[in-house]
Amino acid sequence: MNLLGKTALITGASRGIGRAIALELAKQGVSRILLVARDVNRLNEVAAEIAVHNVEAIALPMDLTQPQAVNVAAAQTWRDYGPIDLLVNCAGVAHQTSFLKARLLQIESEIATNLVGMYALTRPIARRMAARRQGHIVNVSSLMGKIAAPTMATYCATKFAILGFTQALRGELAPYNVQVSALLPSLTDTDMVREFNWFRWVSPTTAEKVAQALVRGLRRGSSEILVGWQTWLAVWCDRSRPPFWKSWYNRRRRRRC
Ligand SMILES: NC(=O)c1ccc[n+]([C@@H]2O[C@H](COP(=O)([O-])OP(=O)(O)OC[C@H]3O[C@@H](n4cnc5c(N)ncnc54)[C@H](OP(=O)(O)O)[C@@H]3O)[C@@H](O)[C@H]2O)c1
Repeated sequence: MNLLGKTALITGASRGIGRAIALELAKQGVSRILLVARDVNRLNEVAAEIAVHNVEAIALPMDLTQPQAVNVAAAQTWRDYGPIDLLVNCAGVAHQTSFLKARLLQIESEIATNLVGMYALTRPIARRMAARRQGHIVNVSSLMGKIAAPTMATYCATKFAILGFTQALRGELAPYNVQVSALLPSLTDTDMVREFNWFRWVSPTTAEKVAQALVRGLRRGSSEILVGWQTWLAVWCDRSRPPFWKSWYNRRRRRRC
């Protein structure tokens, strides 16, 4: 994809990977960036950082767990700022907890944000892209969309689902010249993972590296953009042998009991 002069909308743009993607796209010559998340102050800060690159950035505060409001906001955004060439669905939440102890509220919030929120915004935008016969949608899944990790059952379920959704949508939208791809970061140093207890032995990558990998993947036209050697290795191991998580997790459980 040629990014020059394009309009991009990025969810989860107030911090972490979404913010890094917004800044990287600004460096790559995108002309307008629409920034979506709930925290308007943080969005305005990111917009100010982007303005340094002479790129127009607009903060669009939105709660993706409110599908009707999202639908209205998507239509207004398209009307007010013109066609969106690139949609990056990056907003997400993760709660690390044993499924046996998980609270329904946490489970619902992961599904509502990572999955239903993504559908809610993608549907009105994909329809307009299809009518215009032009566009690209990137859905941010995860290494945990390929390999399920204990204590992350609902998060993994949403990230596996995102890959299935992406694959199905790719086929559906191809006749309309709309590309759909997935980004699969491995552990990345952001607010999301700071409260995790289980993956401290994994050295995280940076959000900036994830954003650079996305841009390379968009240029190459990759349908699945794997980030970092850990993701490549883990995907390869998963294909070639039984899950290493199983023995690692069982060992830890035995030690705790
Ligand atoms: N960090 C990792 O190790 C890692 C690895 C693989 C994949 N990922 C994926 O990468 C994406 C970004 O994660 P991150 O690590 O950058 O997380 P993060 O730093 O916690 O950022 C999450 C972003 O999502 C937004 N968000 C959360 N709930 C929202 C809602 N209801 N409506 C609108 N925006 C909402 C947050 O903004 P507000 O709070 O302002 O709303 C924030 O901008 C997620 O999809 C995650 O699953 C992360």
